[in-house]
Amino acid sequence: MCGIVGYIGEKPAAPIVLEGLAKLEYRGYDSAGIAVYDGKEIITKKAAGRLAVLENLTHSGENMPGFSAIGHTRWATHGVPSDLNAHPHTNGDGTIVVVHNGIIENYMALKNKLLGKGYSFASETDTEVLAHLLDYYYKGNPLQAITKVLHRVEGSYALGIMFADHPEELYAARKESPLIVGHGEDGCFIASDVPAILKYTRKVYYLENQEIAMLKKDEVSFFTVDEEPTEKQAVTIDWDANAAEKAGYEFFMLKEIYEEPKTVTDTISPRIKNGEVVIEELNMTDDELKAISRIHIVACGSAYHTGVTAKYIIEGMLRIPVEVDVASEFRYRDPILSPSDLVIVVSQSGETADTLEAVRESKAKGLKVLAIVNVVGSSIARESDSVFYTWAGPEISVATTKAYSAQLAAFYLLAIRFGRARGVIDDARMKSLLEDLQALPDQIELLLGQKEKIQHFANRYIAAKDVFFIGRGIDYAIGLEGSLKLKEISYIHSEAYAAGELKHGTISLIEPGTLVVAVATQPDLFAKTVSNIEEVKSRGAFVMAVAERGRKEIEKAADYVLYIPHTNPYFANSLAIIPLQLFAYYVSVGKGYDVDHPRNLAKSVTVE
Ligand code: F6R
Repeated sequence: MCGIVGYIGEKPAAPIVLEGLAKLEYRGYDSAGIAVYDGKEIITKKAAGRLAVLENLTHSGENMPGFSAIGHTRWATHGVPSDLNAHPHTNGDGTIVVVHNGIIENYMALKNKLLGKGYSFASETDTEVLAHLLDYYYKGNPLQAITKVLHRVEGSYALGIMFADHPEELYAARKESPLIVGHGEDGCFIASDVPAILKYTRKVYYLENQEIAMLKKDEVSFFTVDEEPTEKQAVTIDWDANAAEKAGYEFFMLKEIYEEPKTVTDTISPRIKNGEVVIEELNMTDDELKAISRIHIVACGSAYHTGVTAKYIIEGMLRIPVEVDVASEFRYRDPILSPSDLVIVVSQSGETADTLEAVRESKAKGLKVLAIVNVVGSSIARESDSVFYTWAGPEISVATTKAYSAQLAAFYLLAIRFGRARGVIDDARMKSLLEDLQALPDQIELLLGQKEKIQHFANRYIAAKDVFFIGRGIDYAIGLEGSLKLKEISYIHSEAYAAGELKHGTISLIEPGTLVVAVATQPDLFAKTVSNIEEVKSRGAFVMAVAERGRKEIEKAADYVLYIPHTNPYFANSLAIIPLQLFAYYVSVGKGYDVDHPRNLAKSVTVE
């Protein structure tokens, strides 16, 4: 959510900033803006809507000459999406310009004080307070004004700031919202994320909380919030710029679904050594793993669904009690935690505000936190005690697919590792688990080969109003994710139900022709789920089932069946989710939607 890009250097700044913002489109936004110093003053242009509107307004930046600029894509929090509320925001005479990600929690109190001092406001945003507060403190020294402001504001921020009377400098600061600084051949950059600047530099600094950066065209310096200079180490980004491009696919989502075999391989393979699962980054001895009495899994959205799956696996395989919480609930329900508990948080972005708070809450209570995270160096990764990186690469499409698969794989490895340490997985079982685990990437590849079949089926359902997903045990967890995928990108109402729960109310919603997706991969629960299929069939539902190859008997109950290859039932989610992701994708494509940018959604949810 919200993207910041800034540049100061030898080249025309506006095209670089707009291009960078385009690379951050995946974060989700509803308006965009840019400010450029043109040699005399700072010119600001902004507009509600897609980035294309701003590109038209500025002729792709060509009618905004100048060598320093800051740009922003806004995902509305305070104030509706509009031209006025779009960033950048300025002080009264436009000599101080600010872009901001995050939320200034005490902005009302600050705004009232500034109104009392004669300041007037053009927007409804919290960000505009920052521009006027900077103006209030500015006595010719930008760094001093910024530090004074940072001491006054509460909340979260990533900031890009320009001062018209210091045109050779560009400023950045952060607290809780991500921000990086890049140092390239022809200039220096700020950005919310690496893809925005990767074309120009791989030398990147990750700003820490309450750190300030001053950029000139050929140097960067860092300061604490008390104006003390600090030394920082640059990180060299080693992933390929192409990894953040569509590579010929119509949408990132399809590209990312096709990357799942590789993602699962990349997550699993390096951690299997000599027939054992080795997770060096776990930093826990066998004795520590044996001592765990309860596991709390905390996450949001799809990441939460991997946690629901993991509960069935960990409790079934290891007999360790597992509680799974949506992070926004966990942090406010005063969870009962004991010192022998382990908290596992899951997050693709590593920036999800509620999940990050869950990390802090758990650590404050003395618990060890293990994070399953995709984005290296993200806030959750940095604040957790140990980090299991999923190595899925950048995920651009707002709806997660490959990162979800990588998170599942991470849980399989952790369950096996814990099981070995606790003596519940003997050598024979270990061998069979690893064989099944290592077969997953090829099996996913096989399922991707069914794409046309699924596309054909999806086209029949683009006009559906309601869809129900049913399943038991892990199949219920699969349904939760299948349903979320469908509703978030196709805007078709869909719900996932534990198959046995349907007759306690929901079955009254089944009408002739209602699509019910029944997931029936779990051998022990198969017959029960088939009975539930029959229940909805007799009310007129059209049933598409996902079952293991060889389970031909399901064809008697369901109208249409997609088969997945045989695997260990604990790993079935990794296979069954593929046709469901493709189904959601093709329904959305069939409806002509912008699959990668579903309305109202953001890739990285950095507000609670
Ligand atoms: C759904 C989706 C979201 C995320 C959720 C958590 O397709 O992507 O539900 O899973 O917002 O995000 P992360 O994993 O970044 O913490």
